[in-house]
Amino acid sequence: MSVRRIAITGASSGIGSALAVLYAAPGVTLGLMGRDPGRLRQVAAECAAQGAQVELLACDVRDRERLQDWLRDFAARSPIDLLIASAGISGGIRAGERTESGAQTRQLVAINLLGVVDTMEAVLPAMLAQGRGRIGIVSSVAGYRGLPYSPGYSASKAGIRAYGEAMRAQLRPLGIRISVICPGFVDTPMTDRFLGDHPFLVSAPRAAALIRRGLDAGRARIAFPGLLALGLRLTDLMPAWIGDRILRHFHFEILPSPGMEDTARPPAVAAPEQAAE
Ligand SMILES: NC(=O)c1ccc[n+]([C@@H]2O[C@H](COP(=O)([O-])OP(=O)(O)OC[C@H]3O[C@@H](n4cnc5c(N)ncnc54)[C@H](OP(=O)(O)O)[C@@H]3O)[C@@H](O)[C@H]2O)c1
Repeated sequence: MSVRRIAITGASSGIGSALAVLYAAPGVTLGLMGRDPGRLRQVAAECAAQGAQVELLACDVRDRERLQDWLRDFAARSPIDLLIASAGISGGIRAGERTESGAQTRQLVAINLLGVVDTMEAVLPAMLAQGRGRIGIVSSVAGYRGLPYSPGYSASKAGIRAYGEAMRAQLRPLGIRISVICPGFVDTPMTDRFLGDHPFLVSAPRAAALIRRGLDAGRARIAFPGLLALGLRLTDLMPAWIGDRILRHFHFEILPSPGMEDTARPPAVAAPEQAAE
């Protein structure tokens, strides 16, 4: 498939930046979006050195109006062949705490789920008018089965996986191909904040190559590494108590992503005897 005009969110780091560099070539125009302008410019310089035209937006995906105006403008000047929605944050239950704060869960859902919904909403009208277009939605293997140490992240990734699958089935007859991407551990700054083992870790360039291969083949789901993806799918198929017991054996701490606002834990619940006083 010839992809000459590509929009990538989360392009200032990790998987998104590796994809930008992988696709950068003469004749290709990249619309790269992320929050950090300095890192975005570094990625842009690397892509430009490979011959690509690059346009940038430094913005938070929660700034819906700015994000959508920029994407609509990018799509209006020439049809987007491929959109990759990779912007995302991670978060989990902090050490010594029993639950995740609602404030953190809301941010995870706002960025990882609603941010992707808003991203797609901006480009779909132009793709539908053309009757063609490809979209890669970055979910996670955490979207297959709720992980005890990261409830909000799991919810956001399961949500965007379900949304992507629904849209894929709905839009395929209209010429839009959607791939839901479910990576395991990828060696990026996000994984550096994940304190614990990183089984089957793959490099960001390798992840980008696997994603590109899957997108080129028009695969409905791009999940890797296969064993980790299969393991999590199996924990979902087995009786819930067995899956819960297996997953409770894994203990991870996830440091909050940069820019994560107020992650304070909820107020402590009073012990029954105190509450009765
Ligand atoms: N790394 C893994 O092991 C792994 C596994 C499964 C799924 N994923 C998913 O892959 C995607 C990329 O993660 P990564 O590993 O590449 O992490 P990363 O290196 O931390 O990169 C995250 C990217 O998302 C951008 N971003 C985060 N919040 C944003 C916001 N509110 N508005 C706009 N941009 C925002 C970041 O921008 P700035 O840096 O400019 O702030 C950065 O470009 C995420 O959706 C993640 O959940 C990662």
